[in-house]
Amino acid sequence: MADRAPAASGSAGTDRPDDAFVYRDGRLSAEGIALDRIAQSVGTPAYVYAGGAIRTAYRRFAAALSPLGVAIAYAVKANDNLSILRLLAAEGAGADVVSGGELRRVLAAGIRPERIIFAGVGKQADEIAAALDAGIHQFNVESLAELDVIAAVAAARGTAAPVALRINPDVDAGTHAKITTGRSENKFGIPADAAADAYRRIAADPALRPVGLAVHIGSQLTSLAPFRAAYRRIADLATALRGDGLPVERLDLGGGFGVQYRDETPPDPADIAAIVKETVVPLGCGMTVEPGRALVAAAGVLLARVLYVKAGATRRFVVLDAGMNDLLRPTLYDAWHPIVPVGAPPAGGDAWTADIVGPICETGDTFAEGRRMAPVAPGDLVAIGRAGAYGAVMVSRYNGRAAPAEVLIDGGRFAVVRKRPSFEETIADETVAPWLARPG
Ligand code: LLP
Repeated sequence: MADRAPAASGSAGTDRPDDAFVYRDGRLSAEGIALDRIAQSVGTPAYVYAGGAIRTAYRRFAAALSPLGVAIAYAVKANDNLSILRLLAAEGAGADVVSGGELRRVLAAGIRPERIIFAGVGKQADEIAAALDAGIHQFNVESLAELDVIAAVAAARGTAAPVALRINPDVDAGTHAKITTGRSENKFGIPADAAADAYRRIAADPALRPVGLAVHIGSQLTSLAPFRAAYRRIADLATALRGDGLPVERLDLGGGFGVQYRDETPPDPADIAAIVKETVVPLGCGMTVEPGRALVAAAGVLLARVLYVKAGATRRFVVLDAGMNDLLRPTLYDAWHPIVPVGAPPAGGDAWTADIVGPICETGDTFAEGRRMAPVAPGDLVAIGRAGAYGAVMVSRYNGRAAPAEVLIDGGRFAVVRKRPSFEETIADETVAPWLARPG
């Protein structure tokens, strides 16, 4: 979604060919459904997803990578809505999960256990047990201590857990510090020089089955060089392990494929495929990638209403009914998201500069600072774009707020796929301590 006014009223209003949200008859729409219709029916704030855009993104990855024998395990952390999981399951996607909760979600959505990878630095024994019982494809292991727990849980079940070692290749992904994972100072993975010993330890334990190596160096990568460096690193390591007589059958290449929020030029799946071909295909391993953001970011917007336009001493503030509790990325990573009015502004109309903020009592509750945009007025709807990844999954209830509704548009229909909880539902899990009698 472009953050500028459409070239002419009624035109697509976008310069991004993959854009699912376009102006149609003067209103921002997806698959022919105008977003004001959705706001009327479910209220705001609400996440709105375009199912067709998710399928298109998945198919672009599959078309580039499947011919090389690379499987796609969707990184569920990007958006774990059951309808999105079901949609991706129907496309044939596997899943990368990082908790027992995500595991149960993907199983409920119908993703086959043999397509599920369990990653993450803090797996717990009960989660490991559930994954073993389900018969998942593999565990990506991040420490020797974790190996001991997996081995103990598997031994108690008389089985051998398939494990891949996640390597920390010490490669700079060139992305935001908070989403960099492949530097030696990051908590993720096992250092490459400790890998051979760890792999031998796995091979020697009858409760563990060594299946290969995994790498993931960060998220929202927009250049290819770090991918090439990381893939080369694990290819070299796999060759060395094989030289020691150890079996390396699988390579998990992680995710991290960036998307365009503003003016980035993220890698195309075909570019990734070329690097995979050059670096790891010659090893003849089974391969997986774990894209999250690249499959869902562009397919979602956060729909919000303008509450107030406030003239500060030095700046103009547009106060929305959505806040940092609904979409945390701008606050947490200074992330830039496009923000456009749902009603198409007149072509050639004036632009404003405004800070676009939420209602939360924190200065960091700011979606955009000094943003040039078409003027808006109280009551207008706006869409915060590229919000399909790491949006709804990072919602909090800060300031006593209910989670936003989520809506899926798909093939000219739409459905509420997560309803906004009522006030009663938001307090239903709480119990007032029995000795605290209501005063008076
Ligand atoms: N595989 C592993 C092991 C990961 O840690 C991640 C993301 C992925 C795959 C998927 O990465 P993607 O393809 O989506 O870049 N909340 C942050 C992003 C955190 C990503 C964490 N790990 C954000 O909003 O930018």
